[in-house]
Amino acid sequence: MSQPEDSPRVAVLASGRGSNFGALAKAFAEGEIPGSIELLVVDKPRVGAIEIASHFGIPALYIEPKRGQRAAFETALMRALAGHEIDYIFLAGFMRILSRPVVDAYWGRILNIHPSLLPDFPGLHPHAQALAAGVKSSGCTVHFVDHGVDTGPTILQRRVRVRAGDDEDSLAARILEQEHVAYPEAARQLLSGEVRLEGKSVVRRPRSEEPAAEED
Ligand code: GRF
Repeated sequence: MSQPEDSPRVAVLASGRGSNFGALAKAFAEGEIPGSIELLVVDKPRVGAIEIASHFGIPALYIEPKRGQRAAFETALMRALAGHEIDYIFLAGFMRILSRPVVDAYWGRILNIHPSLLPDFPGLHPHAQALAAGVKSSGCTVHFVDHGVDTGPTILQRRVRVRAGDDEDSLAARILEQEHVAYPEAARQLLSGEVRLEGKSVVRRPRSEEPAAEED
């Protein structure tokens, strides 16, 4: 589907199976989110996300991360983003931390999804952390990326009840279902201008500023 010239252009960065990328790609393809995913960037050569990109006709770029050469990785990344005229970066299971210059260059235009109700259980193994803490519910968070790890301002969360007998896999599977709802919805809010980051604050468009319905 051709896009208007000024419609938002998105790159998704992933490191694994890419189910969130798939949920986003489907929502864009179905016209639920304004704009388009123009590029998938992966830091592993053989991951599920690449097959999903090919299914949706999205170009996939593998950038090889070399030990101790984060700057080189990010130079290649920034070049690719510029080459594809990318406006927004959506992290979807991307297992690298973006450095300050990248975050600053795209401030307010980078989203991440994390499978816990942040600020609880950031970082690695959030499901195990939630189970170990004995919480009654967990969930997922879509947030703007700032300079910390899973610390940026939240756009939305979806809650999932922890069941007796849950293990990491069962809890992760139920949270993942909610991630696939949450990420497209947060992306829609951002790209339609319903939500934006001003400085470090999430600003929501008051109802009165919503575009008026067209009259005949
Ligand atoms: C998801 O649980 C996401 O929240 C986390 O990593 C996982 C990626 O899964 N950041 P997928 O690759 O999107 O299937």
